[in-house]
Amino acid sequence: MKYPKEYLDEIKTRLKVSNVVSRAVNLKKRGKEYVGLSPFKTEKTPSFTVNDEKEFYHCFSTGEHGNIFDFVMKTQNLKFGEAVKMLANLAGMQPYTFSKQDEERERNWNIYKSIYSKYVEFYHNEIFKNPKATKAKEYIKKRSLTANEVKNFKIGYVTQGIDLFEIFLKEFDESSLKNSGLFYFDEKKKKYVERFKDRIIFPINNISGNPIGLGGRIMEEKNYLAKYINSPETPFFKKGSNLFNLDKARKLSNQLENIFLVEGYMDVIGLSKNGIKNVVANLGTSLTTKQILILNQFFDHIIICFDGDESGYKAALRAAENSIVELKPEKKISFLFLPNNHDPDSFSNEYGKEKFLEFTKSNLVSIHKFIFDHYLKITENNPSSRAKFEKKLRSIASIIRDEYIRKYILEYFLEKIYELTPNINFQNKKKYTENTKSLRSTQTYYNETKSLKPIEIKEFSFLYIILNKPELIKENYNLIQNVKLFSNENKLLFNEILSQSNNLEETNFENLQIDQNLIDRILKYASIKHILNKNLNDDEKILEILNEVIRDLKNHELEIRISDLESKFSKDLSEATFNELKELKKQQKTN
Ligand code: UTP
Ligand code: MN
Repeated sequence: MKYPKEYLDEIKTRLKVSNVVSRAVNLKKRGKEYVGLSPFKTEKTPSFTVNDEKEFYHCFSTGEHGNIFDFVMKTQNLKFGEAVKMLANLAGMQPYTFSKQDEERERNWNIYKSIYSKYVEFYHNEIFKNPKATKAKEYIKKRSLTANEVKNFKIGYVTQGIDLFEIFLKEFDESSLKNSGLFYFDEKKKKYVERFKDRIIFPINNISGNPIGLGGRIMEEKNYLAKYINSPETPFFKKGSNLFNLDKARKLSNQLENIFLVEGYMDVIGLSKNGIKNVVANLGTSLTTKQILILNQFFDHIIICFDGDESGYKAALRAAENSIVELKPEKKISFLFLPNNHDPDSFSNEYGKEKFLEFTKSNLVSIHKFIFDHYLKITENNPSSRAKFEKKLRSIASIIRDEYIRKYILEYFLEKIYELTPNINFQNKKKYTENTKSLRSTQTYYNETKSLKPIEIKEFSFLYIILNKPELIKENYNLIQNVKLFSNENKLLFNEILSQSNNLEETNFENLQIDQNLIDRILKYASIKHILNKNLNDDEKILEILNEVIRDLKNHELEIRISDLESKFSKDLSEATFNELKELKKQQKTN
């Protein structure tokens, strides 16, 4: 029986992989991962790693790999259902009770899976053994595919003259066959016929490798037929939640950081044939945020490489605006535009793997730069067009979900926008550069901020407000006195400020026993600086901003305490620790 994804996800959110694994394996933290001796093999040097962020463990000596459920199944010899029960209990959750609908759905899913796999198998074999498939074989050859690709991707050909619906009726009921989307009712012939008749078919698999949908291509262009069609959406096939070839590509995520996202089936197959196997395609619809999130579970860097023509560019822009919303710290999304109307298939066929990778290396454009450059390009040099431009960029930045990325990208946009208004810029800058050397250099700015942790940038914002509005801070001293900072330099400066709190308004940056370099960095990187400088005379607004920053800092403190407690809990499994954890998580929610 299939557990609902939400239930399994809840277990996964409550239990980190390291929590579960450390019950059986002694783990040591190393960077973002944990390492320990493999439970699957006796060994002296640790080859077993756990990555909480990616939600998996990996054993380099045996190749064992999986999530928390796999881990307890394998180490305790349990079935999946038993593993779920055990982990749910460990996570403090009620066991799941299946309803009648769940059972029904499970039954339908098994039938659906079986129909698709038989269908795919059948027409895959047709290519090799049916003499009527000559046309398909020739087409495949013309596209320079070998038997290897045909087998790897289980490419098939829906030969005419076989009534597969009739044949399948012996094994499956009519409504299941109808619901598969593989056949449709022909009103003239009064019978079910093949949707993919006379097409080359590309099976689309779910993440576990079961075919759940198809893409089908005609072999000769005809203007009354769509070049490609897909299976219709069914309860088990949602285009926006699947990606072609994800089942195979995800297996490379331990070795590779990048995933190429391309437009078409043939692009995936072409790149793959040329040795680039970390590639997926979305399915003839525009890219969804769900697809981005799925890719991010496995890969840190998504490289979107659509066709080098106008429609590819437009699709890329739409993809950029959809996916920037879900951009996360530690993750990257970039774009690659191929020259001369090439698509990834044609480019890699013409120039090969090395040239493709070289081209990738020197032509990647980050998502924010792509968006900025695009809107700048369509902006005219007049006030209304430029105003529209700025509004558009601000609104794009404002819907980004992650608050750090949101501020950081807004900052990037604003820096570049301010370059377009040098006069206003000059007056604004004067206010806060009097006491400091200006360090602004947009080129290096971006690289430098990458080496800063989000929490440091947040602390800079906090200190920035204090440095810029000492009188206001003095009046509201109670707000800041209990704030805790984490990076050493910032802590020193803050303590210095607190110790001078009696005469805060007379505090002169130069009198502070602090490296001027730090002050420069604060003035440069505080993510709220543009927002603050716009509201310099509005004390109420500034206090509001200050409160927000403080709330973020408190949340960070909470997160650290929670993660400490979580590792404590994984060791002692005590009720008290768990309750304390629950309490903190509640606080985190209300903050
Ligand atoms: P393209 O037209 O770029 O095709 O469509 P392609 O990938 O280069 O394929 P070949 O080389 O001509 O065989 C890209 C993707 O857009 C969707 C399909 O998913 C296709 O793979 N598409 C295209 C459709 O859904 N319907 C169409 O009629 C055309
Ligand atoms: Mn193509």
